[in-house]
Amino acid sequence: MSERVKTGVKGLDELIEGGLPKGYSFLLLGGPGTGKTTFGAQYLFKGASEFGEGGLYVAFDEPPISISTNMLRYGWNFADVERQGKFSFVDVSPMKHDAKGTFVPATLQQSFIGSPKFSIDNVISAIGEAKRKVNATRCVVDSLTALTLQFKDEFEIRQQTMNLIRGLTEMDMTAILLAENPEDRQDMTKYGAEAFLAQGVIVLHMYRVEESNVRALEVRKIRGVKHTDRLCPYRITAEGIEVYPEETVFRSV
Ligand SMILES: Nc1ncnc2c1ncn2[C@@H]1O[C@H](COP(=O)(O)OP(=O)(O)OP(=O)(O)O)[C@@H](O)[C@H]1O
Ligand SMILES: [Mg+2]
Repeated sequence: MSERVKTGVKGLDELIEGGLPKGYSFLLLGGPGTGKTTFGAQYLFKGASEFGEGGLYVAFDEPPISISTNMLRYGWNFADVERQGKFSFVDVSPMKHDAKGTFVPATLQQSFIGSPKFSIDNVISAIGEAKRKVNATRCVVDSLTALTLQFKDEFEIRQQTMNLIRGLTEMDMTAILLAENPEDRQDMTKYGAEAFLAQGVIVLHMYRVEESNVRALEVRKIRGVKHTDRLCPYRITAEGIEVYPEETVFRSV
């Protein structure tokens, strides 16, 4: 069996034969507020603090300062792991890219998302530069949706996504690419290209049931892995995301 990378998400690894296959790029799909950023941050923070594995958070969307502040709620202090040389943000967000404490690699100085000079090759070189700095083997891209908005047509989106995944694979990263799934679609047609390019797809669903939201995690595919095909409930708790493999999402009536 291929080497596995622990997700740090309680309850998840046992559903996928022990963790994410090393070197794979995953797509984590979910609607707004489903916990994509939390999942990505948890994967990197636990990686650095519990498993001694360096990580990179590539922020296209929400600026690093906002992510690190919000993640303090779960007790994850990214400034600490950054100081220990086990973590770095790669800031590609349009706002506050010179915020104190955030790493803006030389290759990215002029090339932020939304700018005419933006290029995926610059982002890949910046990831490489940051990887050397913190010896990263884990990477999170938040989000692929922000990245794809940069390009005009499906062909270009597919080509650039492929370049990014190829770049991450060549760097031996085990990566999670976060992407918006606005209508909570089951068929993934909107993410056809990305979902087929990634070696694994995990979907975070949120359903409205009477007066509350029910959250469920689906392992949609992982190439070469015998994974669960059950929809498993998950919650966002004070410790982050937890999956409950023994529970059912909907009670039959
Ligand atoms: N301390 C907490 N305890 C429980 N739930 C929380 C806590 N903090 C945040 N949440 C929940 O997590 C959700 C936000 O999670 P997160 O930002 O990871 O989602 P996201 O999928 O990245 O959202 P977006 O689409 O905005 O990028 C909030 O909407 C809230 O429901
Ligand atoms: Mg988010």
